[in-house]
Amino acid sequence: MNYRHAYHAGNFADMMKHGLMLVILRHLLRKPAGFCVLDTHSGCGAYDLDSIEAQKTGEWREGIGRFDAIPEGPDELVDYLKTITALGAPTRYPGSPSLIASLLREQDRLICCELHPEDAATLKQLFRLQGQVAVHERDGYTALKAFLPPRDLKRGLVLIDPPFEKGDEFARLAEAIQTSRKLFPMGIVAAWYPIKHRAPVRQFHDALRDSGVRDLLDCSLLLRSPTDPTRLNGCGLLVASPPYRFETQAQSLLEALLPVLAPDGEGSIDIRRIVEE
Ligand SMILES: C[S@@+](CC[C@H](N)C(=O)[O-])C[C@H]1O[C@@H](n2cnc3c(N)ncnc32)[C@H](O)[C@@H]1O
Repeated sequence: MNYRHAYHAGNFADMMKHGLMLVILRHLLRKPAGFCVLDTHSGCGAYDLDSIEAQKTGEWREGIGRFDAIPEGPDELVDYLKTITALGAPTRYPGSPSLIASLLREQDRLICCELHPEDAATLKQLFRLQGQVAVHERDGYTALKAFLPPRDLKRGLVLIDPPFEKGDEFARLAEAIQTSRKLFPMGIVAAWYPIKHRAPVRQFHDALRDSGVRDLLDCSLLLRSPTDPTRLNGCGLLVASPPYRFETQAQSLLEALLPVLAPDGEGSIDIRRIVEE
């Protein structure tokens, strides 16, 4: 396990993923009934952007570092920037667990899984006083079968955000989406993936189309055309069972992020249904 999110926190990919995740969470928060979020690959929860790791890559400078003030913009962008600013941005950047935990009401729960022992220990320490948050040092993929459907709660989100260190990660992700849908049909699933070049993404989408899973929306943001497979040229978030109006809100958010994250005008966004309801 070489991947450490501390090198990448607050980069363009985090902004895209967390901005869209927040839109989903706002939908869940609209109803009084409690919900559960299962975050299968949690990281360590919050990141100091002055750290040696963050300074070494400087990725955040081309992400959250480009938003030094909360701009005029669509509600989705303003909400995201206000929420992360309240959590310390742009000096600190919240990981998915901190962002989710900051929104929980008494009736909601968060289950975090993290396999790296150091990051899992940091996460346990971070949430030691927050009874609604459970942290498990374990494999996030097998956690799906252990924790879905959530006990007592009928609504929720499964966030699957693997490090893509291994060659079979796209295949595992497609399988994890199917497993989540099967075990928690009322839940929403959001699965992040990198775009280095187009072929693996096409195969991933084809595998999902062939799987029989319904109601899949794909959101992607490219910084540039993915012709050089050695670079992270963009990323995507596959959302199963997206909430009402999510498609329109995702479009507004990504349209507002794109000119700042890809100022040379070579970027693009794409939101499309992979499989109908
Ligand atoms: C992309 S990072 C997660 C970032 C986090 N979701 C966020 O948005 O702030 C992926 C994390 O998965 C962890 N990891 C790697 N393999 C794992 C596995 N099989 N199960 C759970 N966690 C794993 C890594 O240690 C790393 O912290």
